Amino acid sequence: MKKILLILSICFLVIQCKKSAPKTTILETEDHRTYGILADSAMVVSAREEASKIGLAIMKQGGNAFDAMVATDLSLLVSYPFAGNIGGGGFMVYRLKDGKTGSIDYREKAPLKASRDMYLDKKGNVIPNKSTLGAMAVGVPGTVAGLFEVHKKFGTLPIEKLMQPAIDLATNGVVVTKHQARMLNAYRPLFEKANKRTILLDKEWQVGDTIKYPALALTLTRIKDNGRDEFYKGKTADMLVEYVQSLGGIITKEDLASYEAQWRKPITFDYKGNKIISMSPPSSGGICIGQILKSIEPYNINQYAHNSLEYVQLITEAERRTYADRSEFLGDPDFVHVPIDTLLSPYYLSQRMSDFNWDKATKSTDITYGEITLPESDETTHYSIIDQFGNAVAVTTTINGAYGSKVYVKDAGFFLNNEMDDFSSKPGEPNMFGLLGAEANAIAPQKRMLSAMTPTIVEKEGKLKMVIGTPGGSTIITSVMQNILNVLEYDMTMQESVSQPRFHHQWYPDDIKFETTFDSIIFPALRNKGYNIDQSNSRIIGKVDAILVLPNGKLEGGADPRGDDSAEGF
Ligand code: GLY
Repeated sequence: MKKILLILSICFLVIQCKKSAPKTTILETEDHRTYGILADSAMVVSAREEASKIGLAIMKQGGNAFDAMVATDLSLLVSYPFAGNIGGGGFMVYRLKDGKTGSIDYREKAPLKASRDMYLDKKGNVIPNKSTLGAMAVGVPGTVAGLFEVHKKFGTLPIEKLMQPAIDLATNGVVVTKHQARMLNAYRPLFEKANKRTILLDKEWQVGDTIKYPALALTLTRIKDNGRDEFYKGKTADMLVEYVQSLGGIITKEDLASYEAQWRKPITFDYKGNKIISMSPPSSGGICIGQILKSIEPYNINQYAHNSLEYVQLITEAERRTYADRSEFLGDPDFVHVPIDTLLSPYYLSQRMSDFNWDKATKSTDITYGEITLPESDETTHYSIIDQFGNAVAVTTTINGAYGSKVYVKDAGFFLNNEMDDFSSKPGEPNMFGLLGAEANAIAPQKRMLSAMTPTIVEKEGKLKMVIGTPGGSTIITSVMQNILNVLEYDMTMQESVSQPRFHHQWYPDDIKFETTFDSIIFPALRNKGYNIDQSNSRIIGKVDAILVLPNGKLEGGADPRGDDSAEGF
């Protein structure tokens, strides 16, 4: 009876909310749980309402999750230039309706003219901003190659149909939201600095203004008409190379012509009977959430209250050790050997946690990477899609920093990434996320820089359970991991989960970063044990967009309230 009442009250609320629903609808139900938007068959959760709606419309027309991926991605390029892109790269993890899983890597690559010390001065010091702002920061983009490769393998609708909504959006314009106005206006001085000229976006934006992107509409139309080679060998390639070189960059036509996306085997591991499927190197995401979750698994974390002292302590210590390993061992698997099996083995992880002490923080200075003796085998965006056939995709895509390198390809209408900063410019020197790196992530021509992107799918007893991911640079891994725990260990709905305050530790700096919304009640006890606390500014940690398959088979969207994120379903 209770269940029936619950379902009725959800239906009532859905109908009520449909009348006024602006973006994501939050449902307060009789069981005092907060649900995100619910759907029977298909759903898209992304950083922008326009993109989620366009992806969903493609599935309504009979397209599958991979078709919807192409349409959603290109709509984010137009509606969310902060991170949506064709000038960057990304990763996609999928699970087909028959349970087969896989992933694709369309991460950017270092240009052929890149070299190990390209960001160092004559004295061997890192040159400030060279790897983050302007043309030298740009890696060879992979997004167009990735989308076309996905479409070739799994798409069912013609590519023209998938690209047209983004072309229309660019032609008709996108309405500026409060978040967007704030970000565009804040980054204006850097747009001018990186481009040495004004760009289309260079004006004071007000909420409600409409931005039209005519040059981008033409670029997308050329790609639609000429295919992926338009971007890598055609007029668009010429425009990109000419512009980057005019600003002192090193990308050549050969770099673009030789770019290929790679299908890769995802990282999979078991967490208490749940199969976690996530991205393999060159992303650190899958290995790192694997290391953190497997390190805490023996402690039975749900005996501690959510976000309690013990909860934060245990996770922090697992994160500290994981990020130390990340910095030493992880890099592009086409260039370096990554000891995946050892890094994820329960024996190795129990050794790593063996000096964890409940009474006292471990100091990061006392932690280094683990011993592996045997060779063995701020800004990004994520969207999650499940289609009406049961296929699921988790996609995280990036131009790295906000608006990437800020280089906006003249006459082609899109930003280029500053992904080169994800390499280790110099061992022991932090990148813009404060992450340290070593030899495994040193710069080399055509190498892919290490990423933290963690598009992830969770399966329980052979059935799809969750599709999840987030932006957030180095905090991506820990945000995804906390949301997996929220649902699996603390029985939260997807919306409750993504709305929780989050925290983060990454070995160095030796601080636990807390969102300002995190309850400070546990801070005195943490300080007593020797933990440094950083709640110094209003930065948010991640913007998680996820879908949960409820026990009754319905899909629940979790759209992060930290941004303009939106769930759409049918
Ligand atoms: N650029 C952020 C990442 O790939 O981790």
